[in-house]
Amino acid sequence: MAIDIAIKLREYAELTEKALDGYLTDENVPDKTLIEAMRYSTLGGGKRIRAFLVISFSGMFGGSVEKALPFACAVEMIHAYSLIHDDLPAMDDSPVRRGKPSCHIRYGEATALLAGDALLTYAFNILSDNKNVSDKSFRLSAAALSDLAAHRGMCGGQAIDLSDEISSENDLFELYYLKTGALIEAACLLGYYSACDDPNPDVVEDIKKYARLLGIAFQIHDDILDVTGDPEVIGKPVGNDEKADKKTILYFRDLKSAEKLEYDLTVSAVDAVTDYADSDGPCQLAIWLMSRKK
Ligand code: IPE
Ligand code: IPE
Ligand code: MG
Ligand code: MG
Ligand code: MG
Repeated sequence: MAIDIAIKLREYAELTEKALDGYLTDENVPDKTLIEAMRYSTLGGGKRIRAFLVISFSGMFGGSVEKALPFACAVEMIHAYSLIHDDLPAMDDSPVRRGKPSCHIRYGEATALLAGDALLTYAFNILSDNKNVSDKSFRLSAAALSDLAAHRGMCGGQAIDLSDEISSENDLFELYYLKTGALIEAACLLGYYSACDDPNPDVVEDIKKYARLLGIAFQIHDDILDVTGDPEVIGKPVGNDEKADKKTILYFRDLKSAEKLEYDLTVSAVDAVTDYADSDGPCQLAIWLMSRKK
């Protein structure tokens, strides 16, 4: 039976929010401001699409919400840290995130740095505390997440984003894959590993293909929203990319052609996993993301 993607997204987002709230307690915390900043930037916002991917890929391969949820929270913590650091004056210098003052505006730059550091590190504590998966599942997941979030993945992409090294559309796709696609790939793989600790290389390849194409399509949409979005709805400023002289997809193409590319990439992403049983979640999510207003 076809799922209702909006309802499923909300359901998984609520489960994730509740679990994150439980993980980020101020019990035995020496500095209350730090945990407050971590909670401020992690809870009460975000589409939770990475959590959705972890949970739905788990379900697709016979896993469960119980197995997937700690992994989903770990990925969302790393995502939250990446947004805190991305907004800092030394990076995108963006004062608003998820409809609120960015972490450094609310708590100051030093606390924002530490909140990001702590979220990144604590994510691996949550990962290791997943009692519903085997040690091998944990090992595979820790290896994938740490690699895809680091210098060969997300941080590597953020580094290129700060440089002036984009001279072709292919350079841009590489950048999109790294800064955005890599964490999306980690989310999808962690979902699979939560369900299976003896991964089939062909399945891993199909999942990576879906994630990479979706990651690029997702960042194209984000860059389009930076031009066409309503700041009240997207919860972050518009025009940031132009202000920073960033080469985005709209440097290489007009709006219509960029939207067509997003569509084509999404269709290819769906094609990569559509033949699997219970692939409804990942497939419908990909389609839904093209119409998002935030
Ligand atoms: C924003 O990601 C950063 C990018 C990778 C473009 P999301 O659009 O998923 O942000 P939230 O979590 O919903 O706020
Ligand atoms: C962010 O890309 C990618 C990250 C790894 C955080 P952007 O800089 O375009 O994301 P927004 O627009 O600030 O959310
Ligand atoms: Mg950025
Ligand atoms: Mg930014
Ligand atoms: Mg953006």
